Amino acid sequence: MSIPIGVSGKTALEVAREAAKIAGRLAKERFEGEKGIRFKSPGDVVTEVDTQAEALIFGLIREEFPNHTLVGEESAYDVRADEGYAWIVDPIDGTRNYSVGLPIYSTVVGLALDGEVLVGVNYDPERDDLFEAERGSGAYLNGKRIHVSKKPVLKDCIIGFDLPYSDVGAQYELDMLAQAVWPNMGTVRAIGSSALGISYAAAGKTDIYFQHRLSPWDMVAGILLVEEAGGIITDRNGNRATLYSDGIIASNSRLHEEFLRLTEGHDWRLPTT
Ligand code: IPD
Ligand code: CA
Ligand code: CA
Repeated sequence: MSIPIGVSGKTALEVAREAAKIAGRLAKERFEGEKGIRFKSPGDVVTEVDTQAEALIFGLIREEFPNHTLVGEESAYDVRADEGYAWIVDPIDGTRNYSVGLPIYSTVVGLALDGEVLVGVNYDPERDDLFEAERGSGAYLNGKRIHVSKKPVLKDCIIGFDLPYSDVGAQYELDMLAQAVWPNMGTVRAIGSSALGISYAAAGKTDIYFQHRLSPWDMVAGILLVEEAGGIITDRNGNRATLYSDGIIASNSRLHEEFLRLTEGHDWRLPTT
């Protein structure tokens, strides 16, 4: 699968990296000040910074790849991300954290061809952490190769997860965690940024990450990071994750099997739409 080169000769990875860093730095600059917060729905907030950051990223990509599709949470959420070359952007992932001054959020920029993710970048401006991957070339954090956890059993593990906003799925997730997984695991962390949560699993900082109901921009970088870090990322039923999977599990293959076995027959595995 060929990874395209931009008008000025920059690679897609260079463009994604530059765009994520510029937008992430804007978010960090505005972190302490007035952010212009409003609620999209109960529990789901957006700030003026989200919208500005997305416009900035789109501008940079458009200059280099004028014919590619742009998909973004704030201004192009209804555009298909799995047809042709599509850039998929989450200007701030973890806006709920960001809006109240919790410094756990990031900027996601990815490129897919017909739904197959080719390039994925996730930039955390607070820690200056740059997670990036190009299909076939490994996954990196700040230039150092990363790998998923090697732990074989959940008993020793840190499980990362997040909850969907204003959705009955959140209850299913918590029930499943408490009843099926809790007695068999180490401990848990709710992160508040699914993009960072998946990236942490790719880097083996946590051992497994799951969440029900995510969008292409939450997952685009994470799908590639986990696969390039030697892990597997699937939907709730164990099928390889796509940009439209209704929930994901990311880990190494042994933990994955155990997690799927423990949660089999549980409500979290049933579609809730
Ligand atoms: C959200 C975050 C959160 C997850 C939500 C997402 P946003 O993205 O990733 O951790 O639980 O499902 O929508 O709205 O902050 O970009
Ligand atoms: Ca998001
Ligand atoms: Ca967002």
